[in-house]
Amino acid sequence: MKRILTIVGARPQFIKAAAISHTIREKFADSICEDILHTGQHYDDAMSGRFFKELDIPQPKYNLGVGSGSHGVQTAAMLKGIEEILLSAHYDGLLVYGDTNSTLAGALAASKLHIPVYHVEAGLRSFNRDMPEEINRIVTDHVSSLLFAPTQTAVKNLQNEGFKDGNIVFSGDVMFDNVLHYAPVAVQKTHLRIESSSFILATLHRDFNTDNHERLTNILSALNSITEQFNSEILLPLHPRTRKIIDSMGLNSFSNRICVTEPLSYLETLAALQKSRLVLTDSGGLQKEANFSGKCCVVLRPETEWVELVEDGAALLADANYDLILEATAKLIDKTPKPTTHFGNGHAAEIIIKHLVV
Ligand code: UD1
Repeated sequence: MKRILTIVGARPQFIKAAAISHTIREKFADSICEDILHTGQHYDDAMSGRFFKELDIPQPKYNLGVGSGSHGVQTAAMLKGIEEILLSAHYDGLLVYGDTNSTLAGALAASKLHIPVYHVEAGLRSFNRDMPEEINRIVTDHVSSLLFAPTQTAVKNLQNEGFKDGNIVFSGDVMFDNVLHYAPVAVQKTHLRIESSSFILATLHRDFNTDNHERLTNILSALNSITEQFNSEILLPLHPRTRKIIDSMGLNSFSNRICVTEPLSYLETLAALQKSRLVLTDSGGLQKEANFSGKCCVVLRPETEWVELVEDGAALLADANYDLILEATAKLIDKTPKPTTHFGNGHAAEIIIKHLVV
């Protein structure tokens, strides 16, 4: 029996961990024992607890409760807490997801104790080292024993950085597994707080957009104009960071056709995607979920790790440029992208776990 410690901390990691945890419980309960450690990076119910309930993820065995802070303060608290647990209990490996500070802390703590690190969503690169996530990904990949790449582009990025093929596994994307699993029930199980049956879904949380007044005002102005030019409602669930900044800057005079809500749950997000005409986002995960749900995406960033979506014409990069956002919206609204072939066969979780148990 292999004992694995899974590190989660931020909203997208709960979603990714759900796919693996369910598959362990359903198919590998005899060969692998998983404990979950929640760093506490996200702590509001709307950002954390709700996902465990809705996705039926086992309660974390450990919760470090580190909360918010600067990168150094937050990552250091996690590193210390994770190391203490790894020293007091025996684990054969540590599973980390994506590119958050929780990912980095887990990877550093385990690798220095010579515990193998398994990185799900390895090999993603924006080639923009101003993003904290890019630093987190690069460091995590370089201390990991097994690199689970969601796309062939991610495989190539790792090969270009000198990783040996034996350490790289093209697994496909666990987020694709999840959309296939949960989308059929999402609309029945949820009620969205928006009257219109067809709307644009927009999200915004990256620090380079929220913490830069010019970028934030450009994006919000573009959203206001889109409601008029495209005669469309916009559903805008706000990350707590974005809400705080919008309130503090007095930027909260939205068009009455923009429905501002709390962050959506996972099933609400999938239901919103199904009803949406288009997605505007600076999130990484939502770009893919839009595509898996048959919707196009305007990316509110200068670049993306998910280059396949841009190459396929399913996404356009508009950065925080007012004119580009309106142009991209005109090109993509109500357009259906061709079905994706880049993110595996919907069984990424099973492929990953098979590599963990050997
Ligand atoms: C983090 C990840 C980012 C990921 C995102 C998903 C890093 C560096 N960034 O960004 O890659 O896309 O999660 O959502 O790890 N806050 C609350 N309540 C919460 C959580 C956060 O109010 O439950 C507020 C706090 O003001 C906090 C701010 O949001 O300072 C930012 O939170 P933080 O965890 O630092 O980063 P995210 O922006 O959420």
